[in-house]
Amino acid sequence: MFITLPEIPQIPEAVSHQLKRTYIEFADQQLPVSFEKFITNEFGIDLAAEYAGLPIRSPFGKASGQLSMTRRQVQDDIEAGLGFVILKTVIAQDETGHQSMQAWATTETKMTVEPIQGKNGETGWTVSWKGRGWHKSFADYLQLIREANQLADGTGCLIVPSCKYHLPASGDESWNTAEYEYTTRRLYEAWNEINSNNAQPLPLEKDFSPTLAGDRLSQVQEQILPWLNIVPRLIKQSLPDGPEQIRLGLKVFNTLFDDEFQLEMLSTLHESKVQPDFLIYGNRLFDPHRKYDGKTGIAYGGPDLSDRNLRVLTRFRNVSTVRNQLPLSATGDIQSGRRAVEYLLCGAENFQLHTYFQLPATEYTCRIGNKTYKALHELYFHPTTGFLAWLFHLAQRLDLPKESIRYLDIVREVRDRQLTLKRMT
Ligand SMILES: Cc1cc2nc3c(=O)[nH]c(=O)nc-3n(C[C@H](O)[C@H](O)[C@H](O)COP(=O)(O)O)c2cc1C
Repeated sequence: MFITLPEIPQIPEAVSHQLKRTYIEFADQQLPVSFEKFITNEFGIDLAAEYAGLPIRSPFGKASGQLSMTRRQVQDDIEAGLGFVILKTVIAQDETGHQSMQAWATTETKMTVEPIQGKNGETGWTVSWKGRGWHKSFADYLQLIREANQLADGTGCLIVPSCKYHLPASGDESWNTAEYEYTTRRLYEAWNEINSNNAQPLPLEKDFSPTLAGDRLSQVQEQILPWLNIVPRLIKQSLPDGPEQIRLGLKVFNTLFDDEFQLEMLSTLHESKVQPDFLIYGNRLFDPHRKYDGKTGIAYGGPDLSDRNLRVLTRFRNVSTVRNQLPLSATGDIQSGRRAVEYLLCGAENFQLHTYFQLPATEYTCRIGNKTYKALHELYFHPTTGFLAWLFHLAQRLDLPKESIRYLDIVREVRDRQLTLKRMT
């Protein structure tokens, strides 16, 4: 069944008033309790969600990048109320410290957050920068995992490492399995060292970054598809006690090829013998001609990114013969609750943001707290574009009880009734 979202959510007047009051009142006043508790108490909405099948307190999280590189950043995010934090991508290495993908372990030299206009005329934001993956030592990264887990313990916020592993440039080159094994095992150990739920599997994102799109490594489609088939197996077999020790997500990148190829990538991932446990879709676009600080060819985001992602995901939902779609974490130009709900209607269970947490402070209505807090205030409470308004709209549209909405029930309804977003273009 198709669902079209109207311009303005259709919700009862009383709810609309309550949202407006909350949005204004808490723009310069601290919430008395955490976001998810406040939302349950005041609006009767239970935001409990899942990431890779693991419980999280709410469905908004931080995507991997420059904003999850330090203990302090993670602490701020947990305190602000995020449901999960994906740490910056580390580059895999073997026991001797050798990294096949060393070219990605560069430090950031300059970063600019700037407005961007999409092809459809919509305006948004993009981040231009020249860095790539984690550039400190692997030991430092393992320490960040331990510290982040310690901070998150008992809060309902999930910490997730992210890693980029070796990818062969041609069919003749063999896979560096030593890097897969060494890195995955160390990540698992570090993650479980602090974790009070010792039996929990390691949640891990395998990053296929957008800069890969512009790299010689991914200039042929025949090279990319085998990666998608083989990488999950190599990572899962790296753990001594079997694949149950990991929840592996593949972060799919936007290639320079057309939508058909993106669909083929998604089909391949669903049909491979050893599947990932979930997908993250879809990392930024790459423009080989876009210039930044003397460099030609950079990744970018904004409205064109969400346009492409939603178009591909909707088509996949419609045309795919795959019966059980892998759980999905959405990324890409999520700058409102409404946009998150669009991804939800493409099958996403949770939402990971980067750019929206980096805007100039003047772009948020909330005047207190750090940027994550300001962003969550906007994402949840905005009376017409906020997540709560759109959850009420969906609950009404789907005939679910409006007095006590459970976010996970909505996710289940979308899945079981095979609801699909229909966008007005
Ligand atoms: C400055 C910057 C650094 C990033 N670094 C990483 C990274 O290390 N690993 C990764 O998987 N994604 C990385 N990303 C991609 C983000 O995690 C995110 O998926 C992408 O930016 C789309 O979300 P957004 O539109 O909310 O920014 C980075 C993005 C930006 C802007």
